[in-house]
Amino acid sequence: MRVFVTGVKGQLGHDVMNELAKRGHEGIGVDIEEMDITDAESVRKVITEANPDVVIHCAAWTAVDLAEDDDKKEKVHQVNAVGTENIAKVCHDLDCKMIYISTDYVFDGQGTRPWEPDDERHPLNVYGQTKCEGELAVEKWVKKFYIVRIAWVFGVNGKNFIKTMLNLGKTHDHLTVVDDQVGSPTYTYDLSRLLVDMAEKENYGRYHATNEGLCSWYEFACEIFKQAAEIDPAYGKVSVSPVSSDQYPAKAKRPSNSRMSKEKLTENGFEKLPTWQDALHRYLREIEF
Ligand SMILES: NC(=O)c1ccc[n+]([C@@H]2O[C@H](COP(=O)([O-])OP(=O)(O)OC[C@H]3O[C@@H](n4cnc5c(N)ncnc54)[C@H](OP(=O)(O)O)[C@@H]3O)[C@@H](O)[C@H]2O)c1
Repeated sequence: MRVFVTGVKGQLGHDVMNELAKRGHEGIGVDIEEMDITDAESVRKVITEANPDVVIHCAAWTAVDLAEDDDKKEKVHQVNAVGTENIAKVCHDLDCKMIYISTDYVFDGQGTRPWEPDDERHPLNVYGQTKCEGELAVEKWVKKFYIVRIAWVFGVNGKNFIKTMLNLGKTHDHLTVVDDQVGSPTYTYDLSRLLVDMAEKENYGRYHATNEGLCSWYEFACEIFKQAAEIDPAYGKVSVSPVSSDQYPAKAKRPSNSRMSKEKLTENGFEKLPTWQDALHRYLREIEF
């Protein structure tokens, strides 16, 4: 199987390429230097030449707070909405599968019920709005599509919450972390295995795919320091206190309920991801800190 992957310099794209190689598939990986997804002509030329069976679209504007700046909004729209539509149109013309990586931020976070894949989308911030527009473009153009919503991503190749916490723990004995947003982290290594399973099958549609189990950011931070202390006891001295989101204002509004139902995975013959604590355990042994 020939698989075209965007965003290979990012957290997820990097691991998807590794997983493809492990399984003996031909991975053709690009990032902005080889193909700027906002450039429709370049997208058409590069993907058509690659002539893939599947496109796994991981590239995105992912700086959620920066996306709220007035002078960035059009750029974010171009990357996440127009860029995705450029790719979707080519997948349509080549009649190939497309796997689009999306986000829990397409939902507004009301209530406590886990979001189902077909629930109504109602994003709260610019990033979520543009990712939602990307979803609509994929659904409009591609017959053989997967939309896979993930959340709170961590991978070896890039910045993420775990690395931020570990760095802060080097210089601070005490940290405060928000406790009123609940969701599930996603380890790119585990997700990549599922995405390649999806590429190999034909059970198309919208899915949610995070590691199993729920936590708040505060609970996630506590577990990070607890597990990090098993490797480097110095992290045992870091204490974490819970705060509410209004005590920790950010530019972008974030959903408080990011619980996502993943039953559709097993109903369609896919395996759920391991628990986030297990993923964290393995991740801390992959990175240097
Ligand atoms: N990170 C999260 O917590 C999170 C949560 C939910 C969903 N997601 C989704 O998961 C996917 C993967 O996320 P990630 O964390 O792996 O992202 P990432 O590490 O930020 O990687 C994204 C990659 O896309 C590239 N890119 C940006 N603009 C581009 C353009 N115009 N043309 C081509 N490439 C471009 C980036 O290059 P530069 O670095 O040079 O900009 C970067 O290498 C994304 O679709 C994201 O929306 C992420």
